Amino acid sequence: MATQLFKGRGHAAIYQKYRFAPGKELQETIFTYLQEKKRSSAELVVDVGCGSGQGTRFLAEHFKKVVGTDISEAQIQEARDAPSLPNVSYLVCPAEELPFEDASVDILASFTAAHWFDIEKFMREAKRVLKPGGCVVLSTYTIDTNLRYGNCSEKLTKIYRESWDLLSKYSHDRVKLVLDDYKEIFEALPFPDKKRFTDIYDKIPMTVAGVIGFLESTSPYQIFKKNDPEAAKSLLQDTEKRMLEAMGVSSPEIPVEFWIRHICVLGCKGQ
Ligand SMILES: C[S@@+](CC[C@H](N)C(=O)[O-])C[C@H]1O[C@@H](n2cnc3c(N)ncnc32)[C@H](O)[C@@H]1O
Repeated sequence: MATQLFKGRGHAAIYQKYRFAPGKELQETIFTYLQEKKRSSAELVVDVGCGSGQGTRFLAEHFKKVVGTDISEAQIQEARDAPSLPNVSYLVCPAEELPFEDASVDILASFTAAHWFDIEKFMREAKRVLKPGGCVVLSTYTIDTNLRYGNCSEKLTKIYRESWDLLSKYSHDRVKLVLDDYKEIFEALPFPDKKRFTDIYDKIPMTVAGVIGFLESTSPYQIFKKNDPEAAKSLLQDTEKRMLEAMGVSSPEIPVEFWIRHICVLGCKGQ
């Protein structure tokens, strides 16, 4: 069954503000594969579970026509409201029922979303809508995050992880697919030609405020906030305070390096 955790307008706005496009190393992994499969100048690319459009806008810089799809109207509204290239459009629809003709899509991509889908139904749709030789690109970032700043990187990472550990008890069951490095998703991909990468590291430019906003945008935080709004607010305030103290600075606008590990599953439908 499809899981809906990103419905609220407030959450979608936070998402738009604090989530980021695929980093350089992830982009390189994807494009190397697409070039290998002769799909690097594809006509129609669909970004499933596009959220507020971070990945969709990145794809639009490289492909002729890109359609972002998401089950959440609020997320799609945020995506439509953001400035983007003229070759992008958006649709509200579930990943399990994509409104595309059989064999009409060159690349079906999904960033940090596939673990929310009904995997069996989504894979069936992927097989149906992809052209022969079309490719699937499924990636997510993991919880293995490191923060770097001057000589307090270890301390900062510890503070971040402690906050994340507090949130993790509010994680949905689906997050297990991420903790398992998308192994189950990889195994469910119905194409013999497939690859899984579990060690892609990217540096995302951030500030202290950005790190706090990122935590706020996560689904466990949103669940925590629903259960105990005051405690949730304190967690963010406390994390920011501890980070600033560790760094010896007072402005949350100070840049920090946010290093994330991605997983990426790539596959190609046979001719
Ligand atoms: C963690 S967000 C990722 C958004 C974006 N792709 C990104 O990289 O930031 C997951 C998105 O998947 C969407 N989603 C969850 N289940 C879905 C489903 N069954 N069909 C389509 N979209 C879904 C949510 O509404 C949400 O916008």
